[in-house]
Amino acid sequence: MDEDGVLLRVEGLEVRYGRETALRDVDFSVRAGERVGLAGPNGGGKTTLLKAILGLLPVASGVVRIHPGARVGYLPQQASHSDPLFPARVREIVATGLLGKGRAGLRNGDESRRVQQELERLGIARLAGARIGALSGGQHQRVLLARALVGRPSLLLLDEPTSALDPTTRETFYETLRCLNREEGMTLMLVSHDEEALRRHTDRILWLDRTLCRDDVLERSDVPIHAEGVTGP
Ligand SMILES: Nc1ncnc2c1ncn2[C@@H]1O[C@H](COP(=O)(O)OP(=O)(O)O)[C@@H](O)[C@H]1O
Ligand SMILES: [Mg+2]
Repeated sequence: MDEDGVLLRVEGLEVRYGRETALRDVDFSVRAGERVGLAGPNGGGKTTLLKAILGLLPVASGVVRIHPGARVGYLPQQASHSDPLFPARVREIVATGLLGKGRAGLRNGDESRRVQQELERLGIARLAGARIGALSGGQHQRVLLARALVGRPSLLLLDEPTSALDPTTRETFYETLRCLNREEGMTLMLVSHDEEALRRHTDRILWLDRTLCRDDVLERSDVPIHAEGVTGP
């Protein structure tokens, strides 16, 4: 980490789809341990920003710098219809979270143990052999979270993770995120249309509408992170 604890820095970012500019002039940085909400209208570029951070989309100009020691986890936006007969089992879906990441430093044979640990940590070990299409919405989302977490990320990107969940399951999901942030210092970036939820569960909200329109740091008395730079009483 550099001295100001910056984990992610985005500078002058522009992303295009063909001739359409989805994002331009986006500048911000995220410090380790922050919980950042991403809000804005449909088509405002929230998913595009996450994909650009992940390196899944080419950048037309600007840079995305991720601290070299950081690993990034991703919970993608849900497709509205998932095939209930899709033949993969939960443990296979979660194991795909270890692909292409240097497998989080694991040797052959350690991967299935890592998957099992992650399922246990999230309280879904009993689902390891279940077909992914047979799960409830809340269980399905937990499996996708396990896949995002199995590579032990320091930065976790979540794209509308709770939009398909009922209110109770949603609160449980946010409680899990709170634990990951508090107990492991995980940095979170969370897309949501629910401004109230973002106000309750993040420290800061970035508003995107093809560019960064607003960067609201939320007032919190219980979160020490923004106190770091304060020198006087
Ligand atoms: N694969 C794609 N090809 C072409 N245009 C796209 C593609 N994905 C997104 N877009 C366009 O980019 C803009 C931003 O989309 P997106 O990042 O998905 O917004 P949000 O997640 O905020 O709803 C939209 O105008 C959308 O139509
Ligand atoms: Mg989106």
